[in-house]
Formats: sequence, structure tokens, C-alpha cells
Amino acid sequence: MSMHSHIIGLGAYLPERILTNADLERVVDTSDEWIRERTGIRQRHIIAKEEATSDMAAQAASRALADANIDIGDIDALIVATTTPDMIFPATATILQAKLGGKDFPAWDIQAVCSGFIYGLAQADCMIRAGMFRRVLLVGAEAMSRIIDWRDRSTCVLFGDGAGAVVIEGREQEGGVIGSILHADGSYRDLLKAEHPHEHATPDAFHTEGIDFSTDAAGIAAIEMKGNEVFRVAVTKLGEVVVEILRKYGFHSRDVDWLVPHQANIRIIRATARKLGMSMDRVAQTVQYHGNTSSASVPLALNELYRKGCLEPGQLVLLEAFAGGFAWGANLIRWSKEKKG
Ligand code: UT7
Repeated sequence: MSMHSHIIGLGAYLPERILTNADLERVVDTSDEWIRERTGIRQRHIIAKEEATSDMAAQAASRALADANIDIGDIDALIVATTTPDMIFPATATILQAKLGGKDFPAWDIQAVCSGFIYGLAQADCMIRAGMFRRVLLVGAEAMSRIIDWRDRSTCVLFGDGAGAVVIEGREQEGGVIGSILHADGSYRDLLKAEHPHEHATPDAFHTEGIDFSTDAAGIAAIEMKGNEVFRVAVTKLGEVVVEILRKYGFHSRDVDWLVPHQANIRIIRATARKLGMSMDRVAQTVQYHGNTSSASVPLALNELYRKGCLEPGQLVLLEAFAGGFAWGANLIRWSKEKKG
């Protein structure tokens, strides 16, 4: 009998501190109207000074383990998708393992920026199918606010912090992850990147509210993006990959019950839904509440659908993301977890 990868637990975490569009109007030359119209974003959550990516990951992971009704001792492998690791090394996954009280099982990070969760789910699925692991904890966690240039209005309004986690279990039962498609094209690498070191400005407005957004100029990366060009390629590639994955596994777009897209920009999300002929009420939309949380965005959106009781066993769920690199991809899932609530 062959193994299938089933999502058996979901969890999410967003930091307490909320930064609204109105807050940003006091930092850069922008407006709530511009941000909402061009991106759909209304607010984003910002990590506390004393928090690290691994702390947000630990919250989301603990919730996913509790949801699966298991504990860390039942996990065989831990993957953290992040582009904002606690340190250059060790991997945030090993720090997370220790924070969760785990030991011995392998733990590693993957870096595919906003597509990290999609890449991670593909990797976990293959390893489970190969019989290497039975239960994998997969977390997407990001402190994007730490790699923002707060003087750059074209990027600082877009991103936010958070974490989402799933527990994946290999079972002989049919369903679960049907398959994945991954792509990358490094010829686009300069359109969206974070080099270091980079000099940062600290908006005074934040200091007056007791938030310290300052970053040590030495060795800190900051996001640079040619937004317009990224937008155009993202719409094209995402439109292609959702069609490609459905064709590969023998489905039609009308078979898809839920589209769970990367939450970067509501206009990109709408374009992909349009390509599939799906109405927006079958599309997970959380970008307005947390902005672009990079690798955390797909698991945050998936968790939101699950918590709201939208996901039911037997439904076809399509995940997709597009990221710097460029790296993009999609996963197709026959949902098998019981409905929440
Ligand atoms: O997660 C990884 C993938 N990333 C993405 O998917 C992001 C893709 N890109 C986007 O979402 C959009 O390109 C943005 C939201 C970043 C920008 O939207 P746009 O409709 O492409 O605007 P634009 O870059 O063409 O800029 C239009 C105008 C410019 O002014 P001019 O040159 O027309 O006078 C910008 O300077 O909007 C200006 N602008 C702003 N105005 C107010 C740029 N940022 C802002 C801002 N507030 N925050």
C-alpha cells in the first residue's frame, strides 16, 4: 500500500502589535486609500522587539500539534520555511525544536521566500511517500518587518509578520496531498531581493509610540522590489501554474473547492481566481488583515479557512505562491481533515 500525506493539524500566530495604514501615513508619503486600492491591505502585525521568528513559529507549531492531538515527541522531522531566520545559523528549525522540547529528529530550514510553504509541503510529501518519515511538522514563519527599509513607501506598506504551521502524517488512506509543481527562474533575481548590509532609517513616529523599529545597519538586509514588473510576472506565472497542476493531475478548474493563494496583493489573487473562473467566495483572502507575510501567508490563509469551518473532507484545495528568485509553485490537496466546529 502506498503512503499519502494528510494534514492532521493546523495552527497560526500573529504578533499582538498591529500597524494600520493610518500609522504608516505618519511615516512615509502614502495613504490608506492608495494601499487599500492597490493591494487590499488594511493592517499588518509587527513582531515585538523581544520576539524572534522561532518564537512566532513555536506558537503556531504548538497550536498545530494541539489541533492534531499529538505532542512534539510524535514528530519525525521539522521543516521551517523562512527568509528571516533568527540567525545565519543554526537553522531556525533547530532553535524551534529546542523551544518545543523536541530532540533527535532532523530539523532544517528551507529558503524559497514567499513560496517556502509550497516548496516545504512538496518536500515533506515526497519524504513521507518515500517512507522516510511518518509525521512532519512544517512551519512558515517570518519577521518581515526586520528586513524593511522604513523609508521606502513602495515596500514598507506591503509586508507583515506571522507564522503558520501544519502537521502532516503519512497514512495508507487515499486523499491528502495529491501532488505539487515547483518552478524557479533565477534570471529574475534582481527584481525582488534583499541584499546586505543596508542602511536603515528608523521612523520617529514609532519611537514615540514605544516601538523600536531600528535595525543595526551592519549586516541587515532590506527588501528592494521593482513592484510593477514583479506584479506582471506573478500574474502570468501563477495563472500558468494553477492550470498546469490541474492538468497534470487530471482535474478541471470547476473541480476546485478552495483556492488558497499567496497573500501578497488582492489584485494578483483576483487575477488568478479569474484565470480559473472561480468566484471570490471560494478564495481564501486574508491579505487585508496581515499583509504579505511571505512563507507564513499560505498556512495563515489555510488556517483561517479551516477555523471558519469552510474546509470539509473530500474537497479539492489548491495552494499557490510566487516569490523572489523568482520561485513559484502550487500544491493540490484532497482535504481529509474533519470539519472544524
Ligand atoms: O510576495 C512576493 C511577490 N510580490 C508581489 O507579488 C508584489 C507585486 N507587486 C505589487 O503588488 C504592486 O506592484 C505594488 C502594490 C507593489 C505597487 O502597485 P502598482 O499598481 O504596481 O504601482 P506602481 O509601482 O506602478 O506605482 C504607481 C505609483 C507610482 O507613482 P508614479 O510614478 O505613478 O507617480 C509610485 O511612486 O504609486 C506610487 N507609490 C505609492 N503611492 C502611495 C508606490 N508606493 C506607494 C505608496 N503610497 N505606498
